Order: sequence, then C-alpha cells, then structure tokens
Amino acid sequence: MRKIDVFDTTLRDGEQSAGVNLNTLEKVEVAKQLERLGVDIIEAGFPAASRGDLQAVKMIADTIKGSSVTGLARANEKDIDAAWEALKGSSEPRLHVFLATSPIHMTYKLKMTTDQVLDTAVAAVKYAKKKFTHVQWSAEDACRSDKQFLVKIITEVINAGATVINLPDTVGYRAPEEYGSLFRYIKENVPNIEGVKLSAHTHDDLGLATANSLAAIENGADQIEGTINAIGERAGNAGLEEIAVALHIREDFYQASTRLKLDEIKRTSNLVSKLTGMIVPGNKAVVGNNAFAHESGIHQDGVLKEKTTYEIITPELIGVKTNRLVLGKHSGRHAFKNKAVEMGFELNDQKLNEGFKAFKDLADKKKEVTDEDIFAILTDKQTEA
Ligand code: KIV
Ligand code: ZN
Repeated sequence: MRKIDVFDTTLRDGEQSAGVNLNTLEKVEVAKQLERLGVDIIEAGFPAASRGDLQAVKMIADTIKGSSVTGLARANEKDIDAAWEALKGSSEPRLHVFLATSPIHMTYKLKMTTDQVLDTAVAAVKYAKKKFTHVQWSAEDACRSDKQFLVKIITEVINAGATVINLPDTVGYRAPEEYGSLFRYIKENVPNIEGVKLSAHTHDDLGLATANSLAAIENGADQIEGTINAIGERAGNAGLEEIAVALHIREDFYQASTRLKLDEIKRTSNLVSKLTGMIVPGNKAVVGNNAFAHESGIHQDGVLKEKTTYEIITPELIGVKTNRLVLGKHSGRHAFKNKAVEMGFELNDQKLNEGFKAFKDLADKKKEVTDEDIFAILTDKQTEA
C-alpha cells in the first residue's frame, strides 16, 4: 500500500478564500487540530504577505512538532528571507517556493522570457537551499504550461536542490485523465526525478479538484495538497477529507492511503467552518450535515434493515456519532415506527396507523418534521381513549 503525504494549505490557499481572515490565535488553533488529524505538512501562511502572517507562521512553526510546517514564498530573496525568519524554529525547516511557467502567466503577469523564468527559479531554489532542509518548488499554472519547458525547468530546479515538485492545476482547468497523464509524463521524462516527490495541487473551478487529485495519485503522485472543507481561492481547493476518505473506502482500487486519523475529520471540519465563517453546504461530500441523513421511505427502510444498502461511509469513520433518519414527506411507516420506539412509545397497530397519517398530513406542510412534532402527534394518539 503506497503512503501518500498530505499537505494541508487551509491556512494559506484556504485563507485566500474571499472574506476569510484568521488571526494568529485562530491559525494556531487550526494548526493544532491539523496536527491531531495527522497531516504530514501544514502550510501555515505566506510570511512575506504581511507582518501578521509572518508572526502566525512563526508561532505555528515554534509550536507544532507532530507535523512539518511550511510557508509560501515567491521566487525572490526577500520572500525567502521572510519565510526563513518565520520557519527557522521548526524542527526541519521547509520552504514552498513557486514561479509561474505557463505562457499566459509568463507573458502577462511576470513579463519574463522562458530563460528568465528558468534562471529565476533555479536561483531561488539555490538560495533557499542555503537555509532550508526541504525545498518544494511549484510550477504555478503547470497545467497550461508547455510540457517540454516543464521537463527542462523541473530538471534544473532538482539539480539546484528541490526535493518536492508540485504541479498545480492553478485554475482548475484540466480533466482527470489529462492531469494524471501530466504526472506520468514528468515521471517518464525528467531524468533526475528518482527520489524526488511529486505533488498534486488542484482547484475546483470545474468541480474536478478531488477527481484530479485522485487521478494524480493513480499516476504516481506522492503528495496531495488541499484544504479542509475544500475552501480556497475562487471555487476552492481539493477537500482533503474527500481525497483521504475516497482512498480509504476504495483502497482496493487506489492501493494508496494517507496517515490521517479519519475520525478527527468532522471535528476539524467544524472548527475550520466556525473560525473561517464559511458554512459547509449540507450536501457537501463527507462532512456535509446531510452526508449521513436519509429522507426517503425506500432509503430509510433499506438503512434500517442493513446500513450498507445506502451508506458507503460509516458516520463513525469520520467522527460522527450516528446517521440520521430525517422524517419528511418521503418517509415511510418503517422509519416512523422506528422513531416512535426510539422515543419510548408503545403503540398498537391502530394507533400507529393513525399517528402515521397525522404525521404525513403534517409532512406535506413542513420541510422537516421535528422530534417535537412527532412527540406531540404520538402523545395525542396515546392518550386518546
Ligand atoms: O494554485 C496554485 O498554483 C498555488 C501555488 C502557489 C502553489 O496555490
Ligand atoms: Zn492553489
């Protein structure tokens, strides 16, 4: 079974979600929970972005010892120096340095030629290696870059000392098969790739972030990058909880797993949601409130007979106590009776039928019939002569 490193960027790319701003203490609280969750690498921020970010990264690097801590830097000495100031206290200082490699970014954003980009990337990695034990280099917008140029620049940054190469799908553009084949291409064509880790970093602009990450793993990625609850720039990053649980549930297919303590997922999700103010949609995979809720009579009947009829993930796996049978207009007699028994009512068949009819009448008028509603209906039926 291959072990995939988990690189969490909730505190960097995740904090780049519009409207999100965490203070230092909130960031440390999230970092501690990420350590408990068992992530391998925490990207704690972008130290050159602000004094506050530098201080937060520093406090996390000085506090967290169970996960490796990193920070982001552009390919210049000022950014790398700021990152060093923040990260020098960590047990094995790790830098994440990036430079864009796509024609669009090089022409319009960087206004640099390919040779200038190559020289700048190599110089940055060499400079970083004088200070940091581990240097990860990212080819920003790798997915819209020329593959031969990628091979050339990756070969050079590895020669300069990079030990992790990240191929971000910065704008969430690629289809899973294309993203997977990029990993295969780099593995097959970069001559000095042996011993270097390849990392996948995906965005969800087309709703493909998780699928793309899994495709990268199938094609040899050693590390996945993402955030908790899939927060991040624009439509967000890949949700680490989704990738980790997919690997666990379909271990037979992917033949790979992470070191995450999956039963810490829900707690981590709740904390990130609370502190960022980003509400998790009810239908969000793995951590949404409805992920273990069954409403229709057919599903409820199936789950009451055997959970695996409609549940491929157990709620306990991610730290949720139990599934929920939500009583609404699609619910059936079986679930209604189950609820009555759970609430301690003993009803004969006639009372049960009458109660069920009253419940259905009410369900037609309400989105969800609450326990209090059921209690009122059943109490009436029980006390009727
Ligand atoms: O999406 C991206 O390209 C990034 C890089 C900085 C790695 O977040
Ligand atoms: Zn990103």
